Amino acid sequence: MADKKAQLTVGEGNTLELPIYSGTLGHDVIDVRTLIANGYITYDPGFMSTASCESKITFIDGDKGVLLHRGYPIEELAYKSDYLETCYLLMHGELPNKEQKAEFSQSIMTHTMVNEQLKSFLNGFRRDAHPMAVMCGIVGALSAFYHDSLDNDNPRHREISAHRLISKMPTIAAMAYKYSVGQPIMYPRNELGYAENFLHMMFNTPADIKPISPVLTRAMERILILHADHEQNASTSTVRLVGSTGANPFACIAAGIAALWGPAHGGANEAVLLMLDEIGDVSNVQKFIDKAKDKNDPFKLMGFGHRVYKNFDPRAKVMKESCDEVLSELGIHDPQLELAMKLEEIALNDPYFKERNLYPNVDFYSGIILKAMGIPTSMFTVIFAMSRTVGWISHWMEMLSEPHKINRPRQLYTGSDVREYVPVDKR
Ligand code: SDX
Repeated sequence: MADKKAQLTVGEGNTLELPIYSGTLGHDVIDVRTLIANGYITYDPGFMSTASCESKITFIDGDKGVLLHRGYPIEELAYKSDYLETCYLLMHGELPNKEQKAEFSQSIMTHTMVNEQLKSFLNGFRRDAHPMAVMCGIVGALSAFYHDSLDNDNPRHREISAHRLISKMPTIAAMAYKYSVGQPIMYPRNELGYAENFLHMMFNTPADIKPISPVLTRAMERILILHADHEQNASTSTVRLVGSTGANPFACIAAGIAALWGPAHGGANEAVLLMLDEIGDVSNVQKFIDKAKDKNDPFKLMGFGHRVYKNFDPRAKVMKESCDEVLSELGIHDPQLELAMKLEEIALNDPYFKERNLYPNVDFYSGIILKAMGIPTSMFTVIFAMSRTVGWISHWMEMLSEPHKINRPRQLYTGSDVREYVPVDKR
């Protein structure tokens, strides 16, 4: 309930009282819902200071570099948990006990196959289709296979769809990759772990099935944990908005995949590697830093900056540590990592970046680890989408479990006033 009030004086002495609510952590919010009855609406392009909903799932403190999932710091989860346990936590609000963890893992790992018909979907794409295009298409079509559980008002149906999406995303992602390289699709193996199974489907072939390196498995688990959820980011807000119309969960997740694809959002990890390729050598770093600072140049330093973090992104710190681990354990000397570290050092000492609190974000180092693991650049955002599916679906479930309205923002209209139609021979 409101324990404080804001006073807003508009026009001649017309003072409105707006309730202020405090959450567990973070900013207090001013409830502006009564504004429209008084003839006003708020204006906040990009939603820089707008809370679209109440949520209990994730909290970010951008100034302190804090990221909590259901209260647990991301560093704790990244080093002590595993991805399926993190999925359970995000969906249900508590860490599972042994029985709950075993039951959840069993449910996910025994639903990893997709309908065999989905293979023919792939044949409709060119071999060089971007795998994110394939993901959008196939995930959006999944509802065609699951008419038995599309009643959004039925909590059991919501849970079945959530399990199906979490379990099948790695299979679909690996299918998209295998199709792009002309290799046979590898079926999932339910006795493997979640990340291990994904790497099996990515890198093994029917002619050559090898055990997956524990180093790669651990690195992939950590990458999946670090990308699992992140409050009301662009793609999660997209999923909530689409979900508010009553669309089925597969359509909602396909919308989230599409939103994530943008280079300003989840597409940044792929864009970081392309940028490092373009920079090429440490001697060119300053030129690109200057480009990023030039207001007349649309170029931005990929992997830098964040809407919320105005200090370091805690995920980037964990990712950087994992980067060092993976490269040393694989015995890889990656000149792009050195280039990335030089770029970070120069940028963090440049007044433009310091004044604007622009630090490396989660995408800055993830691409380097993924490349070291042999993942092709075009699959980086696909892996981000695979991981973020649990975040999207947890927010979708949270929204549907409470009374909600269709999301429909208003606008500041600056177009033409009413005018009469002019026949074409009079124009
Ligand atoms: C993700 O929201 C999330 O939580 C997203 C995410 C998640 O887990 O879901 O964390 C994942 O999307 C991480 C971000 C990945 N994107 C990139 O790395 C692309 C490069 N970054 C920029 O596009 C940008 O920083 C954004 C999009 C991330 C944030 O954009 P904002 O909020 O508009 O940036 P801002 O308002 O804080 O910018 C302040 C100033 C501006 O300049 P001035 O108008 O003050 O002169 O900093 C500039 C910006 O132009 N700026 C940059 C920059 N990022 C911001 N200048 C150069 N290079 C950059 N990378």
